[in-house]
This record gives sequence, structure tokens and C-alpha cells, in this order.
Amino acid sequence: MANTAADPDSTHGAPDGTRRDFMFLATGAGLAVGAGALAWPFVASMAPDAETIAAGAPLEVDLSPIQEGQIVNVFWRGKLIFVRSRSEKEIKEAAAVPLSDLIDPQPDAARVKDGHAKWLVVYGNCTHLGCVPIGHQGQYEGWSCPCHGSLYDTSGRVRRGPAPANLPIPPYLFESETKIRIGEEGGKAVA
Ligand code: FES
Repeated sequence: MANTAADPDSTHGAPDGTRRDFMFLATGAGLAVGAGALAWPFVASMAPDAETIAAGAPLEVDLSPIQEGQIVNVFWRGKLIFVRSRSEKEIKEAAAVPLSDLIDPQPDAARVKDGHAKWLVVYGNCTHLGCVPIGHQGQYEGWSCPCHGSLYDTSGRVRRGPAPANLPIPPYLFESETKIRIGEEGGKAVA
């Protein structure tokens, strides 16, 4: 059975005052996730029992309360994951970036699920040394890593190092238009 993340109900100030970042604590995993995360509010906890946590059960995330521009932070198997609702403008801009401009070339379409380009789901630790990048910051308006200045775009692709690689995509699937299950692919929980 999947764990379930509850609705967000508080906000973290963002540069433009309209975008907000949220934190879900849905797996009961620790909160020691590094600089940047400490300022994000805890929103909701529906921690499953220890056995379920240890088994790394899939995590169900309800997308319906997430507004455009918001980033929700969840934990699955102890790892931070960003779930970002992207605007049409962000999607178009991400799709238009020439692969030759990228440090770790990957088309935006390969980083989202077919028909669900609005939703970006990526692991939330910088691929340099693992700090937690801050959302909606930096030249590319994706994430900015406070540790050594790496920048990511709205597709989670690294645009300025020292980070060598894009934010990885965790296994997940769309259970419905408004729900994803992290930790499942092809209808099965990942090992
Ligand atoms: S850990 Fe992010 S730039 Fe070094």
C-alpha cells in the first residue's frame, strides 16, 4: 500500500511573492536535508509505520492542491524529491533550449511523463555534493544551489556547474490526472 502525502497549507516566501515551496513529510524519514530546506515549512505528516517505511513503499502524492509555480517537497526512501507544477511559459522555454547549450544534454520531454509536461518530479539534492538547491532562484529560474553556485533550469537540468549532471528523475507513474505514485514504474513497485 502506498504512503499518502497530505495537502499543503502553508507557504515559504518566494522571490515574486506568488510562488511557494512546500514540504511534505510523508514517509517519516529524517529532515536533515541540508541548507535551504530548513527555511521551508513543514506542512503535513501522515507517517506510516516503521515497517512500511523500511520497506520503501511507494509514496502517493496528491497534485490537486499544488498551484502553478509551486514546488512541493516530499521524501521517499529517505530522499528528498521536488514535485514542481510548471507554467506553460516554463514548459515552452524548457522545450526550446538547444541541447548544445546543456552540460548534461537531455530534452525536456525526456524528463517528464507523456501528456504531463506540467509536472516535473526530480530528486532534490544537487549533483555536485548533495546540497539542497533553492527553487525559483538563479538565472534559469529553476533552482540555485547555495553551496557552490550550481544553477538548474525549470527542467531540473544543470545549466551552470560545478554540478556535473541534471537532477535525476525518481521512478514514478501517474495513477490519475491528479495523483502520482513515487516508487512505481510500469504498474509495479520498484525493488
Ligand atoms: S553541492 Fe551544489 S554546487 Fe556544490
